[in-house]
Amino acid sequence: MVQNSQDRGQFSSKLGFILAAAGSAVGLGNLVAFPVMASKNGGAAFLIIYLFFVAFICYPVMLAEIAMGRRTTRNPVGAFSAISGGNPYWRLAGMLAILTPFMIAVFYTVITVWLVVYIKEIAFGHLDMLSQSGHFGEVVADPSLFAWLLGLLALMFFILLGGVKGGIERLARILMPTLAVMLVLLVIFVLTLDNASVGVSYYLVPDFDRVDLSVINGALSQAFFSLSLGMGILITYGSYFSRKDNIAQSSRMVAIADTSIAFFAGMLILPAIFAFDANTDTESLSTSSVGLIFDFLPQIFLSMESAVGYTGASMVAAAFFTLVFFAALTSMVSIIEIPIACWIDEFGFSRRKAVLLQAVLLIVFTIPATMSLGISDFFTNFTSYGGVSKSFFDLVSDVFYETILPFVGLTVCIFCAYQWKVSGLKEELVVGDESYSGSLLEKYINFSLGTVIPVVLLVVFLSTVNQIYFG
Ligand code: PFF
Repeated sequence: MVQNSQDRGQFSSKLGFILAAAGSAVGLGNLVAFPVMASKNGGAAFLIIYLFFVAFICYPVMLAEIAMGRRTTRNPVGAFSAISGGNPYWRLAGMLAILTPFMIAVFYTVITVWLVVYIKEIAFGHLDMLSQSGHFGEVVADPSLFAWLLGLLALMFFILLGGVKGGIERLARILMPTLAVMLVLLVIFVLTLDNASVGVSYYLVPDFDRVDLSVINGALSQAFFSLSLGMGILITYGSYFSRKDNIAQSSRMVAIADTSIAFFAGMLILPAIFAFDANTDTESLSTSSVGLIFDFLPQIFLSMESAVGYTGASMVAAAFFTLVFFAALTSMVSIIEIPIACWIDEFGFSRRKAVLLQAVLLIVFTIPATMSLGISDFFTNFTSYGGVSKSFFDLVSDVFYETILPFVGLTVCIFCAYQWKVSGLKEELVVGDESYSGSLLEKYINFSLGTVIPVVLLVVFLSTVNQIYFG
């Protein structure tokens, strides 16, 4: 095992870490899936359950992941391996925490390319075309996607060549505040539309009758994905975190930022949907981010034409898609950094060589994923399970995004509780934060990390497996 410390890098400050980690956490999940899930599942009732999971399940896992990274200054494979003294089984768990982000990056890249194409179409005055049903099918089956794919990959790898401070952190420092301001401006605009208040009350009035076991399960998975847990991201970002800084406090800021953006996205999407059609039945909305963003939202933006004219509606649409693109870009960069950190730490590659290797690997896997929605019949009808035909894109998304994440989270908990032991974890968490010792938080983590939390994650994992593969 070789470590090339010169190429590893570090965040410049606590704020740099918080912005970068929030950049990773804020993604399609916040901007689209969360608002719709909340409105379908009891509004504020869902929000309360979600907050409970963020605080009591996700937050401890977040601390554990960051602590593992900072203790070892290594990527997930190196972190599992170093703490366990080279145990081959735990090294395998570390490999899973590299493979998972590697594969998630594959389908997330494809979605981000679609966003780029949508922004281009709107800029050329084609919002009306995007709003026609079925147009999304044409966009995703157009071979010109490859040109955009190459452009996007070039941009991402250029950012990643800049390293932790000059690339990832600098991007987040620019995009995260921009994203927050754009979101607030869009919310203010949408709230002035007729019927917007119906959407707000749909979103904010708690309806506990709608809450059942599947809603609770959904809230936990959403919280887990939204905070970028189980993807090896926070282990790696933790390895770039200064030993002078406070892990518990910084993680709290990331969780608050992520949840606030999700909350405000609800104040944007729901009022916009109800302004479009005051009789919208939220039950009929799909929680699939992809269907909503690309099929449904262009129609909503076009409907604003009567209020603000075609150009006005196009500008709002362009602002929204740019916002989603920024969120996706900061998430993408975070996830591609994980395998890059692995090539640097474990193989002693320079950052340049690691970035190049990762670029080649990502291109090789992204091509079939891009061809999965009509360009190639082979990849479009790649396999079938759970009674449904699945494309290569679906397969990667189902296996790595939907299923394996909670499992990786589970291994982190078991690892920290029984291999590293809560005493080892504590030793790291008190660095930069003496108040952790003897705190209520410490007592809660000592109790729950090896008991309640892994059990809950196991239940989510099993129910997802059941739903996707046997449903
Ligand atoms: N936290 C992200 C979200 O809520 O959308 C999840 C994510 C997905 C992060 C893909 C990174 C990534 F590449």
